[in-house]
Amino acid sequence: MTELPEHVARNRAAWNEYAAEFEPDGRRNWSQEEPTWGIWSVPESQLGVLPAELDGLDAIELGCGTGYVSAWLARRGARPVGIDNSEAQLETARTLQREFGLEFPLLHGNAERVPRPDASFDLAISEYGASIWCDPYAWIPEAARLLRPGGELIFMVGSPLVLLCDRDEGEEVPVDERLHRPYFDLHRVEWEGEASVEFRLNHGDMIAVLRDSGFAVEQLIEVRPPEGSTTRYPTVKLEWARRWPAEEIWRARKAG
Ligand SMILES: C[S@@+](CC[C@H](N)C(=O)[O-])C[C@H]1O[C@@H](n2cnc3c(N)ncnc32)[C@H](O)[C@@H]1O
Repeated sequence: MTELPEHVARNRAAWNEYAAEFEPDGRRNWSQEEPTWGIWSVPESQLGVLPAELDGLDAIELGCGTGYVSAWLARRGARPVGIDNSEAQLETARTLQREFGLEFPLLHGNAERVPRPDASFDLAISEYGASIWCDPYAWIPEAARLLRPGGELIFMVGSPLVLLCDRDEGEEVPVDERLHRPYFDLHRVEWEGEASVEFRLNHGDMIAVLRDSGFAVEQLIEVRPPEGSTTRYPTVKLEWARRWPAEEIWRARKAG
């Protein structure tokens, strides 16, 4: 067996630990008819993240976790496959599949190297999965390899701005209105006291890696939560997220 890259091994151990905490969110999201996105649960009807027509599409969810995004796709007629690095997260996904009576294939592995042939899928999607826990210089070319010509890549991440405004004093300390780290040279991010490793790029570098991988960027949705939105995450206050984008969703298409 090939050895896992260091960040993938660390994130596997970390997510096997975090998994129990994410089960309630997973169950709540599985039970929703309408998808909602991000920490403020902004409805799909407001953001328009998913393609209008999903029926019959082969989809891969990269870092599927508890699998609710794949469940939303399957209910709209797509044929999803989920891959996740954490066996514990996949165990939750399997439990929820049984509970909700909806099954689709789940693979245990690294989304930077997916055991599926070239051009197997029409849609690749990641909601805070590979999109933040994998190296963008590995997982974005891998998504391009997996997609058929004309296929779509959709992914949600925290914005670079929210990262810059984070003082790294723990999850309970919300971001403020000052820049605490440089914008240039963003890539690997490690938080004080956390075992996991994240990745974030600035917008110029993100566009460059997408283009170099054969994608054309079609849309960048900068998520603005509606007035009165609530979240269980203390990292960003609503007043902040109403003024600056804390989360973003990229839509890009592989050349046809
Ligand atoms: C915040 S969760 C994703 C949320 C997801 N949308 C859900 O339904 O639960 C992040 C997931 O990314 C997974 N992950 C981290 N590194 C990964 C990698 N290299 N390959 C695949 N999945 C990975 C974690 O195991 C975790 O399940």
